[in-house]
Formats: sequence, C-alpha cells, structure tokens
Amino acid sequence: MQVQTLLEKRRSVRHFDPDYVLNEETLSTLIALASKSPNGNNIQATRYLVIDDPELRTTLLPIAFHQQQVLEASALILMLGDYEAFAKNNITSILEEGFQAGFYDESRRDFLTDAAIQYYASKTEQELAIELTRDVSLAAMSFVLLAQEAGLQTITMSGYHSAELKSALNISDRYLDVMLIAVGKGIKEGHQTVRHPVEKIMYHNHISA
Ligand SMILES: Cc1cc2nc3c(=O)[nH]c(=O)nc-3n(C[C@H](O)[C@H](O)[C@H](O)COP(=O)(O)O)c2cc1C
Repeated sequence: MQVQTLLEKRRSVRHFDPDYVLNEETLSTLIALASKSPNGNNIQATRYLVIDDPELRTTLLPIAFHQQQVLEASALILMLGDYEAFAKNNITSILEEGFQAGFYDESRRDFLTDAAIQYYASKTEQELAIELTRDVSLAAMSFVLLAQEAGLQTITMSGYHSAELKSALNISDRYLDVMLIAVGKGIKEGHQTVRHPVEKIMYHNHISA
C-alpha cells in the first residue's frame, strides 16, 4: 500500500482481538524496519520494550487508566529513549562501524564523531529529553505505518502515569518513556476524526503571533 493510502486509512484502534497472536518474527521485522527511521546523529537511542507478560499487562491496566487495549492488543510496546546513547563510547562505536563498513573515510568519521559529541555536550537534561522524544516519535510513526501495511492496527498512547509505569516495569532513569504502542488485529474501527484544512496549518516564512 502506498504511504498516502496508509495515512488516509489509518485510525487509532482501541478494540483488539485478544486471541490474535502476533508472532515474534513479524514483531521483530517491524521493529528492525522502524529502526531505519531518521534519528539525530544516528545515535540510535530508541528502545522497544515489548510487554508480553500477561501479569505485567494486568498490572499496567490501572496505570493506563483502564484502557482495554493494554490487555487486549497482541503486543504492547513501551517506546523508550536511552540517555546512554548520548555517551561518547556509543557515538564513537556507531561511527566506527560505518567507517569499517566503508561508508566514509577516516577524516569524515572523526569529523562526525567530534561534531556529535560536541552537539550533545552542551545540552541540558530537558533538551536531551526533547532529542529523545523526537527520535523515538519518528520511529513510533514508522512502526505504526509498517504495522498497518502488514494488516495490523495500532494505537499510540500517552494516557498512563509515567512514574507508576516505570516503577511497575523497573525502568531506571537511564530511559525516557515516550509512549506506548498497542498493536494487533482490530475488531472495531477507530473513530473518525477531523483534521484542520491545510490553509490553517501551512505557513511560509512567518507564522502569526
Ligand atoms: C502521543 C499520543 C498519545 C495518545 N494517547 C492516547 C491514549 O492514551 N488513549 C487513546 O485512546 N488515544 C490516544 N492517542 C490517540 C489520539 O487520540 C488520536 O491519534 C487522535 O484522536 C486522532 O485520531 P486518529 O489517530 O484515529 O487519526 C494518542 C495519540 C498520540 C499521538
């Protein structure tokens, strides 16, 4: 299906077939493809925590305001950003890998490595959280479209208590939780939703105060 069709037909689905099994191979293929999304300096900070333990899913239900998709979707994925991705050793090893693969020469490797390290060195915690949110969100959107292309439905979710969810899953401050994605076979269509006309959202050079 073309991206245009995927976007026109996609809706957030909140009711899933609880018996539908999404096999590990399909899920890992979708994640591997989503990881090809653009990401700042290619530091690859996005992590996908697949929550497939039914007991954990039950624990998360009240934390996610009793949204049934937490239980009923075939897979529930917590999309995380890893602050350790900003570390020098991560940046250096990714750029070395590209060099070893023959994608650029030594001087480009060194230039890109220094530039990336310097870029993050001056950032505040809040700015780093924004960096992670950007990268994880782009990967999340890719995942949503890939899942839809594979005949599945999704919902992205921020409706949960972040601190409680991290505590229930034993997630340290190393990670920023960006959103949950529930994926599976929808059994009820998502609501129809409106969008602003393009004239209301597209500007050139200046945006009104
Ligand atoms: C970051 C994010 C968080 C969301 N969280 C929830 C949620 O917790 N529960 C829910 O029912 N919908 C959630 N949604 C879905 C939105 O309500 C939905 O995308 C929007 O109403 C537009 O509808 P559509 O996705 O069907 O086009 C979320 C969407 C996004 C992008």
